[in-house]
Amino acid sequence: MKKLQTSFAGLTLKNPFIVSSCSLTNSAERNKKWEEAGAAAVVLKSLFEEEIEAELVQAKKEAHAEEMGYLQAYYQAHRLEEYLRLVKETKQTCTIPVIASINCYHNSDWTKFAHHIEEAGADAIELNIMSVRSELDEAYGTYEQLHIDILKQVKKEAKIPVIVKLGRNFTNCMPLIDQLYANGAAAVVLFNRMVTFDIDIEKVSCTHGNALGQTNDLSEVLRYTGLASARVPNMDIAASGGIADGAAMVKALLAGASAVEVCSALYWQGSEGIQKMLVFLSEWMERHGYESISQFRGRLNAKEGNAMDKFERTQFFNNFSLRND
Ligand SMILES: Cc1cc2nc3c(=O)[nH]c(=O)nc-3n(C[C@H](O)[C@H](O)[C@H](O)COP(=O)(O)O)c2cc1C
Repeated sequence: MKKLQTSFAGLTLKNPFIVSSCSLTNSAERNKKWEEAGAAAVVLKSLFEEEIEAELVQAKKEAHAEEMGYLQAYYQAHRLEEYLRLVKETKQTCTIPVIASINCYHNSDWTKFAHHIEEAGADAIELNIMSVRSELDEAYGTYEQLHIDILKQVKKEAKIPVIVKLGRNFTNCMPLIDQLYANGAAAVVLFNRMVTFDIDIEKVSCTHGNALGQTNDLSEVLRYTGLASARVPNMDIAASGGIADGAAMVKALLAGASAVEVCSALYWQGSEGIQKMLVFLSEWMERHGYESISQFRGRLNAKEGNAMDKFERTQFFNNFSLRND
C-alpha cells in the first residue's frame, strides 16, 4: 500500500505506524512479530543511564576502590554489549527500520555509546531525555540547554539520524524544537510518558499510578503536534500518547505528524491493533479522496486562520456546566 508511505527522520516508512520504545520491543523475535503485523518501524526498548548506574553500585560493593576504573569500563561494556546484540539481532531478523533508544539526563560519557549503536546497524537513534526538575537554584533554560548539548554530543559520535523524544514538562517547547532542528535533530517525538505519581490514602504512602497511557492523553499531543508542525514546519514529528485507534492516528497526521509511536494500545490490543489502525487509515483516505499522506498531513495544524482559538484556548470562555440544578 504505497499510499500509506511516509517519511520520518530521513527514513522512508511504508506507513506511519511505529512501535514505540517499551518492553514490547526488547527482543528480535518480538520485533519480527511487529513487522509481520504491519508496523513500519520499531523503536527498541531504551538503554537507561540508571541501569548502568545500578550495575556500577553493585560493582562498587564487590570491588576495592582502586579497581573501579576497570570495573566501570567492564560494566558499561557489558550492558552495552547486551544492547548492541539487540540492535544487531533485530536488524538481522527484520527488514523495517530499527531505531535504538537511549534514556538519558546527563551530557556525559554515555554519549560515546552512540557510535557503537551506529556500528551495530541501527537506522536511527532516539534520545529519550526526561527528568523531573525541582531545584530552586536551577536557571531558566537549563533543562532545554541540556537537550541541545546532548544532541550535539551524540551527533559528534554518530552520523545516523538522531531523534529527540521530549517530555511534556516544558513551559514552551517550541523554541526548543526550533533549536533542536537548527542543531541537526532529524525529528522530535511528542511526547514521552512519565511514570505517574499517586498517593495511596489507605497505606498513606506515595506510589505510582497507571503504568499504561489513557486515550485522553491524545488531546495535548494533538495540540502541541499542531503547534510544532506550524511553528517549525521542517521538523518531522512523531505523535506519541493516546494513539489507540485509527481515528487517533488520522488526527495526529492531520495535526502535522509524519508518524505515530504507539505503546499502550499494543498492550491492550496486541498486534491485531496495528492492522485495524492501518485499515482505518486507508479507508478514511479513500472516503476523503486522498491518495497519499502528504496530501493531508498538517492540514489542521496551527497555521494562521486554522482554528487558532482551539489550539490556544486554555479555559472555557462562557460558563460551562454539566448540571442544571
Ligand atoms: C510500560 C511502558 C514502558 C515504556 N518504556 C519506555 C522506554 O523504555 N523508553 C521510552 O522512550 N519510552 C518508554 N515508554 C513511553 C512510550 O514509548 C510512549 O512514548 C508513551 O507511553 C506514550 O504512548 P502510548 O500512549 O501509546 O503509551 C514506555 C511506556 C510504557 C507504558
